[in-house]
Amino acid sequence: MDARRRACLEAMGIRRWVLREDEAPALAVPGADSAPSPSPVAPESPAPPDPAGAGLIETMDWDELRAEVLACRRCGLAETRTQAVFGVGDPCADLLVIGEAPGADEDRLGEPFVGRAGRLLTAMLYAIGLAREQVYIANILKCRPPGNRDPRAEESLRCRSFLLRQIALVEPRLILAVGRVSAQNLLSTDAPVGRLRGRVHSLPDAGAPVVVTYHPAYLLRSPEQKARAWEDLQQVYRLLRGGKA
Ligand code: URA
Repeated sequence: MDARRRACLEAMGIRRWVLREDEAPALAVPGADSAPSPSPVAPESPAPPDPAGAGLIETMDWDELRAEVLACRRCGLAETRTQAVFGVGDPCADLLVIGEAPGADEDRLGEPFVGRAGRLLTAMLYAIGLAREQVYIANILKCRPPGNRDPRAEESLRCRSFLLRQIALVEPRLILAVGRVSAQNLLSTDAPVGRLRGRVHSLPDAGAPVVVTYHPAYLLRSPEQKARAWEDLQQVYRLLRGGKA
């Protein structure tokens, strides 16, 4: 296990079991005798320092961030969601996949990309040799917009610090933005996916390289675009292997 992965797991409070040299078999748990990580500290003022609360969020660890997201009531979607959908996968993944927002299945099950589009996304990743568990999957919005309407600008803004913190914690080598809403929000543009795909972008807030492809739900409706999505995935594969885009 490399140092980055170890640090990442330890930061998440995941214990590693190792054999001690002087007693066998025995357990040494790094940090086991230290106090548990503190729960999120309530801000002194009820109002966050900015509309997205970024100042508080950007210091959170995974547990704190998850708790904050699951309890979030920053926008009206809290009234209509079943539950917030945080994210799933390897917290140290090389590839971070970012979609739009939970749909009905995700809202019910609490995990991103578990419906029909999610099954296609899983197959797309598998086609470049990546199991779903090897990547991290998150969305622009953590809560389902009613009727699966597009996220509103205000909702994306209020959710943005959560996603930025997820990006900072994962430290991916590459981000794959799936679909128009994801790409446009991440790259602060209104260009269509067709113009954004095929090159490597840089994320304004985090500096991570970003590749754009079609949303799997769109591919289910427009299978003739699957060949282009396959080109995008091959680009992802090359970039992750350290090759040229
Ligand atoms: N579509 C998305 O963009 N995200 C999900 O989690 C599910 C469907």
